[in-house]
Amino acid sequence: MRRALLVSLVCLSVGLLMTGTVYAFHESGVARCSGCHTMHNSQNGVPIDTAHVGGNPGLLIRNNSTDVCLSCHAQTATSSSGYKVWSLNPLQPMIAGGTGHGAGDFVFQQEDNINDGSSGATSPIPGYKSGHTVVAPSKGVVADPTLTIGPGGNFPSSQLGCISCHDPHGSEAFRMLNGVGEISGQYSYTFTNGAPEADGISLSSTVGESNSNHTAYKSGMSEWCANCHGDYHAYQGSDYYHPSGVPMGSESVHYQYYNGTTQYETGDPATSYVAAIAFEDPDMTISTTSGPGNSSKVSCVTCHRAHATSAPDAGRWDFNVQFLALDGVASGSLPIANPWPASGAEQRSACNKCHVKDMHSEGANP
Ligand code: HEC
Ligand code: HEC
Ligand code: HEC
Ligand code: HEC
Ligand code: HEC
Ligand code: HEC
Repeated sequence: MRRALLVSLVCLSVGLLMTGTVYAFHESGVARCSGCHTMHNSQNGVPIDTAHVGGNPGLLIRNNSTDVCLSCHAQTATSSSGYKVWSLNPLQPMIAGGTGHGAGDFVFQQEDNINDGSSGATSPIPGYKSGHTVVAPSKGVVADPTLTIGPGGNFPSSQLGCISCHDPHGSEAFRMLNGVGEISGQYSYTFTNGAPEADGISLSSTVGESNSNHTAYKSGMSEWCANCHGDYHAYQGSDYYHPSGVPMGSESVHYQYYNGTTQYETGDPATSYVAAIAFEDPDMTISTTSGPGNSSKVSCVTCHRAHATSAPDAGRWDFNVQFLALDGVASGSLPIANPWPASGAEQRSACNKCHVKDMHSEGANP
């Protein structure tokens, strides 16, 4: 503990010396305890948090651990720093498109309707379907009422918060994600798969991801999600689920040449990477623009983001719309950008990046 503290103090001062970077807090280690803990909920004779109902067994400065994180990670009327993960307005997320720096934005939990399917205007899909519903009293967000556990596993939705996935005391892992072992906090749960290998883009600006500046997913993301979802989307009994964590094989060639519904064979393999349709590869970097190879892998984050999006099931694109241009129309929620604007209103689902089923001559690209 002492060594960890010393290291973090050194890192902290280095961070402060670097101009142009965000004010550093965790620096991959344990930050100053008072950023999150209080011994008596009192400073200068006044309570640190008046909403701190009935004390808190974790000696935290807010009502629950997620609200502690949000005391810095939620956008306020005056803040605009890049490391926020909860914007003020779902129609005007801090980062254009609502991608955050890869994980997506929890503000979509507060949407009234994200259904852009055929009866979207009359059959609302509420915001809690937008992804991981972290229990956050400061935002009025309660546990997901329909999914009471994580599908495929047994993690209770009532316990889901930032520290279910991130280590509050920091770690060397990508984005301080929890690794093998028991997670922090009052709720006892053990991860059996380690944190994924990946590199994240800089959090120091409000510029979010682009096709040449994106999370570099290298390996282990599907296994990491499996800590709570089991072998989800694998063959289960007689039901079919989409494979994850499997090599792309010949689908990688489709990916390389697909450049939209109307230009399904004009893609250039060297520039075919689309951040909205990610895949894992050990050689991936945050500025890679080339498409996948045969051994690159489909992963949970090919189709989902880790936090939430303005589409159901934290979809990287809306799985319910036939044409991407319909996104946001019926619901009035934030439209997710079409990666292939040249195909205009004709552009169909992003599943076609790998499957090319949107042409009459299916699979026609090389
Ligand atoms: C980024 C926020 C954050 C910082 C900084 C932080 N903690 Fe914690 N700590 C937490 C949270 C959240 C929990 C879980 C509380 C709960 O749910 O009971 C926790 C739990 C603990 C626990 C209970 C055991 C456990 O791991 O669950 C101890 C002891 C502890 N913290 C000590 C410290 C000390 C000492 C420091 C400073 C060196 C520190 N913490 C810094 C957020 C933080
Ligand atoms: C006192 C303000 C503060 C609190 C409280 C806080 N954070 Fe942070 N967090 C920051 C800042 C500033 C950054 C960006 C710079 C850095 O990494 O230190 C950051 C970065 C992060 C990152 C990205 C790390 C990286 O380098 O990729 C994660 C993940 C994170 N925080 C999670 C949490 C979680 C989970 C909690 C609650 C247990 C929490 N934070 C509480 C200020 C805070
Ligand atoms: C700490 C446990 C945990 C981890 C790790 C985890 N999930 Fe979940 N997930 C849950 C729980 C609990 C729910 C059900 C409650 C909810 O929907 O928020 C859920 C729900 C979901 C949903 C449905 C959300 C909705 O809109 O209703 C998707 C999609 C999902 N998870 C994907 C993922 C992916 C992809 C990963 C890895 C990047 C992942 N999960 C990692 C616990 C977890
Ligand atoms: C279900 C697991 C899960 C939960 C719950 C979760 N995170 Fe994350 N978070 C991730 C993963 C995985 C990433 C990396 C996403 C990527 O790059 O694809 C991430 C990324 C981040 C980042 C980097 C910035 C970004 O937008 O990518 C920050 C900061 C962060 N999380 C903070 C938080 C805070 C604060 C909370 C609670 C309000 C939280 N996370 C809840 C899994 C989770
Ligand atoms: C090829 C795209 C794709 C991949 C890869 C993928 N998913 Fe999904 N996922 C979907 C779609 C589409 C849905 C919407 C429901 C459906 O079609 O079954 C969904 C729904 C979900 C749900 C919500 C189920 C519910 O009952 O609400 C969870 C949880 C989930 N996925 C987790 C995962 C996890 C964990 C992984 C990685 C092991 C993963 N997904 C990989 C496309 C994908
Ligand atoms: C990043 C590439 C990629 C994306 C995007 C993708 N898939 Fe797949 N899909 C694959 C791979 C790889 C396989 C396994 C192929 C095999 O076994 O030959 C597969 C298999 C399938 C199969 C089974 C095919 C068979 O022959 O058994 C179906 C159906 C399918 N995907 C539908 C979808 C749908 C629907 C979406 C969008 C929600 C989607 N896929 C998105 C790569 C992808």
